[in-house]
Amino acid sequence: MSEAPVALVTGAAQGIGLGIATGLARAHHRVALLDIDAQAAADAAERLTADGLVARVVRLDVASALEWHAAVATILEQWQRIDVLVNNAGVSPRGTPESTDEAVWDQTLAVNLKGPWLGIKACLPALRASRGTIINVGSTRATRPRRGLFAYGVSKAGLLGLTQQVAIELIDDGVTCNMVAPGWVDTPGERLIQARHGRSDWPQGVRNLTTPEEIAAAVLYLASPGGRRVNGEILYVDSGLHLADDVAMIYGQPDDSRTYRG
Ligand SMILES: NC(=O)c1ccc[n+]([C@@H]2O[C@H](COP(=O)([O-])OP(=O)(O)OC[C@H]3O[C@@H](n4cnc5c(N)ncnc54)[C@H](O)[C@@H]3O)[C@@H](O)[C@H]2O)c1
Repeated sequence: MSEAPVALVTGAAQGIGLGIATGLARAHHRVALLDIDAQAAADAAERLTADGLVARVVRLDVASALEWHAAVATILEQWQRIDVLVNNAGVSPRGTPESTDEAVWDQTLAVNLKGPWLGIKACLPALRASRGTIINVGSTRATRPRRGLFAYGVSKAGLLGLTQQVAIELIDDGVTCNMVAPGWVDTPGERLIQARHGRSDWPQGVRNLTTPEEIAAAVLYLASPGGRRVNGEILYVDSGLHLADDVAMIYGQPDDSRTYRG
């Protein structure tokens, strides 16, 4: 490839998305930071370009097909190709089947599940042309449900189904589709959720937090030539949380009364 590959990362203004965008930019990709918060994304892109990396911002609500169409057209106009699509933008409301109201359900499924589908649909001609790759940011909760994460867990389980279905649909096109599943990651979004529950920091005893840089490393692997035989997979980056008893894994003391309320 004569020119640097192009990567699109949604929800790239902060947290895991920014970690992935930074990792891809450092690995010589031209990176488009797509986020509903254009100002935060612009601030992030400015920091990347100040470091000599290639980044630009496109404001996007991932739940809008029209906005996807416009965003992809803008990027293709400037960079002419798309090699990597990272569907990372997500919301994580807490709630049970009873306490979750319809608006929260609709919003969660729109951002976490419909958004990746719309992004794939909009990028597909360009991804086919580059024999590119799609990486969806899921969660350990896609396969290991946890009480109180009803709409979120459903959306991430759906995203795993979408990942596998897209992988099989595109198998003859040389386009791969995988899911990276983070464990618990210290991000601005997670901090807000903790603060909503009156916590200024993580619960005492919490350990094995994953970092955005570690998620970026997994994305880079899947996007690299060495990862291109991996298809339709879920790659957990969660210290084994999906295998372990959550309480034993997360807390030093299994009987810690400050349980994860999320
Ligand atoms: N933080 C964790 O512990 C954790 C664990 C597992 C999975 N994840 C997943 O990782 C992803 C990122 O999580 P995070 O903790 O970095 O989140 P975050 O809340 O810190 O950041 C999310 C970003 O997405 C953007 N965004 C939200 N809605 C959007 C929309 N409709 N269109 C475009 N952008 C939108 C926000 O503006 C923000 O910049 C999510 O999909 C989340 O479910 C996070």
